[in-house]
Amino acid sequence: MQELENITNDYDSDKDISFLCEQCRKYNYISPRDFRKYHIKRGLRNEDGTGVLAGITKICNVHGYIMDEGDKVPAPGKLTYRGYSVEDIVRDCVQGERYGYEEVAWLLLMGHLPTGRQLDVFRRSLARQRELPDGFIDDIIIKVPSPNIMNTMGRSVLALYSYDENPDDYSLENVVSQSLSIIAKLPTVMMAAYQVKRRVYDRKSMYFHQNVPEFTTAQNILRLLRSDKKFTEQEARILDMCMILHAEHGGGNNSTFSTRVLTSSGTDTYAAISAGIGSLKGPRHGGANAKVSEMMEHIKAGVENWENDDEVAAFLEKIMDGKAGDGSGLIYGMGHAIYTVSDPRAAILKECAEQLAGEQDYRREMALYESVERLTPEVFARKKGISAPICANVDLYSGLVYKMLRIPEELVTPMFAASRSAGWCAHRIEEILTTGGKIIRPAYRAVSPKSAYIPLNQR
Ligand code: COA
Repeated sequence: MQELENITNDYDSDKDISFLCEQCRKYNYISPRDFRKYHIKRGLRNEDGTGVLAGITKICNVHGYIMDEGDKVPAPGKLTYRGYSVEDIVRDCVQGERYGYEEVAWLLLMGHLPTGRQLDVFRRSLARQRELPDGFIDDIIIKVPSPNIMNTMGRSVLALYSYDENPDDYSLENVVSQSLSIIAKLPTVMMAAYQVKRRVYDRKSMYFHQNVPEFTTAQNILRLLRSDKKFTEQEARILDMCMILHAEHGGGNNSTFSTRVLTSSGTDTYAAISAGIGSLKGPRHGGANAKVSEMMEHIKAGVENWENDDEVAAFLEKIMDGKAGDGSGLIYGMGHAIYTVSDPRAAILKECAEQLAGEQDYRREMALYESVERLTPEVFARKKGISAPICANVDLYSGLVYKMLRIPEELVTPMFAASRSAGWCAHRIEEILTTGGKIIRPAYRAVSPKSAYIPLNQR
């Protein structure tokens, strides 16, 4: 207790904070041995890395392995929205030269493919709700700027509660209408947050353009992004495709599960969706796409000859050792909790990146990304001593595609959030309708010894 004497009144000096951290480390650490002893499934994972089954969903299937007599056997990745392969959805949109994000949002929410008329009505409904309430941009976004757009998006969604006349009504009618409003408004919030960030933190001009009702979500995003409001059809279609690929990924991913956990407590739509945004920001989840770009800058600077596999592999080893990159030891854009051999989203984005790189003279950079994808499994096997396949995930190529679309780096994770709002809302609705009011509430085993309370004057 002697150390306590050294504390100043407000716990605000560096010395005091390090003292507090020392206490935290000393009294909060739990040995991995205890996890093993009590058979705790860390990260809600089984020993073979598969997720603990926590629910049932009709919205999406993420398939990355098959179980053969209890053994996990790697398999090519498949992703289906309401039973429809995402590859088929994307292919049909590309071949038909049409936008698909709104159709996918309908599919996820309503459970079936919309007819042409249903889709028209749905699009019009989103178009009517894109603009933010009067004064919202001034009061919520301009007055409280944030260098991080995900942060502004999260608290803007929470703030929308105050503009809703019926925010706590848990009825399906109300939740569906709130969901459409959030899916429509989140891209507008994102672009306003970006403009304010530009003005306040980058000392650049900001522009607030109006959404065009006839435009799709992707077209409006590009219009709101650019000072001259101009974009090409090709750019908007590629952005739309990225939004389709990011719209949904099952019930167990961190942000969707967070949304479901909050929903199961009976809280309001705004709180549940902002939880999803908060989770997605994390670098092990959606934030990994921004981390990929940062990591690639380190690789570009640290590797002299990008075409030399040995040099690239040596740098990847340094990243895994925590001696290069951000020090986390992670090769961002690689690995997945479910996918083993391949992530279908990464394959589609890679193809798109290849095409754009050819057109825009990014071939050298593209080849370096491909080297990271190709060499990581070898490096991984060498360092970890495991030969299980490790594949590129959705985040490896998405940042590069956005870069070639001239979408700034700070928008890559927010773009993910704007797209995923459809999936979060669909899961919130499913949670409300199907779990019969059961709150998600796993158990934690307490391992602290019993202690007799010591009165303050005796410590
Ligand atoms: N770089 C370095 N190490 C990695 C790795 C990577 N890309 N992916 C997995 N590992 C490590 C894990 O940390 C774990 O190490 P440990 O046994 O020492 O704890 C081991 O390999 C086994 O990991 P695994 O169980 O297969 O992966 P996971 O399901 O725990 O993690 C991710 C999945 C996505 C979180 C993980 O692959 C990762 O952090 N990737 C980089 C971040 C990223 O791109 N995230 C986006 C996901 S879409």
